[in-house]
Amino acid sequence: MSQQSPTRVRVRTPATSANLGPGFDAAGLALELYDEVEVAVRGDDHVAVRIDGEGADELPRDAAHLVVRAMRATFEAEGERLPGVDVECVNRVPHGRGLGSSASAIVAGVTAARVLLGRENGGDELDRDRVFELAARIEGHPDNVAPCVYGGFTLAWRTGEEWRALPLAPSPRVRPVVCVPEERLSTEAARGLLPESVPYGAASFTAGRAALLVAAVTGHPELLLDATADQLHQSYREPAMPASVRLIRELREREGIPAVISGAGPTVLALTTSPGEAVAGDAGRISQDHVDSISEVAGTSWHIRPIKIDPAGVWISSPRSLTCVEE
Ligand code: HSE
Repeated sequence: MSQQSPTRVRVRTPATSANLGPGFDAAGLALELYDEVEVAVRGDDHVAVRIDGEGADELPRDAAHLVVRAMRATFEAEGERLPGVDVECVNRVPHGRGLGSSASAIVAGVTAARVLLGRENGGDELDRDRVFELAARIEGHPDNVAPCVYGGFTLAWRTGEEWRALPLAPSPRVRPVVCVPEERLSTEAARGLLPESVPYGAASFTAGRAALLVAAVTGHPELLLDATADQLHQSYREPAMPASVRLIRELREREGIPAVISGAGPTVLALTTSPGEAVAGDAGRISQDHVDSISEVAGTSWHIRPIKIDPAGVWISSPRSLTCVEE
């Protein structure tokens, strides 16, 4: 840290939905639901974390917290030592639901650390490529990190040791609805259900649909039902989230709504394309008309939430304050 580096920063990071069906470990969408993290440098070596909202009762309040671990890794990548910090988290992204809460924490930590290191000026000047590269390395896969950093619809991949991402503009006609159950599922457990290999036909089917997915999300949303079909992961994960897979089948087969498992689940993401689009489930409906409602569908209670696509990705709130908080 230099003498001129800011000593306080506030970062906002969006929820994300990875995979979108056939884009396994590659495609992602940023959603307008945000975590906020404020970090202030202390005069000592102590790390203190305050948490409001999701995970407040269970997450660590010290250097083991994921935001702090990401900050430490970022300082070390620059050959520096993380100073003592006060970290305040307002968590709104649900945990263990496939909405990118860990990517959100990691991207927040990396961004905050780079600001405190004096490597960022804030706002539009944020070096998103560098934040993405560091965050993807820490997370170990890039599909949530990419939309969290760049916003919108992203594709991400790895070439050799390098992580890369391509942000694309989603069609304004795509209107996501997330259906979030109470139950949680860890990404690790969901990955443990995947087979070592899949039949050639499933791989070729899914490759074709992944290509179609890019066209559908960016300009042909009328193709989303075909474009979100997958044979690589969702059915293998059914034992860990039977209600989610059942809801997806109901939405897709009975109602023609492009619905997928969000990331590693168990949240269901429906990509509706008109405000009135609605579905009848066992005992409820899912539509853009539901605003933060709870519905019983497929034998489970879902928190149903129409949500806009976040266009901007990680953001440093009040970037101008970065120039006036030096102490
Ligand atoms: N693509 C991941 C998975 C989601 O489905 O396991 C979290 O990045």
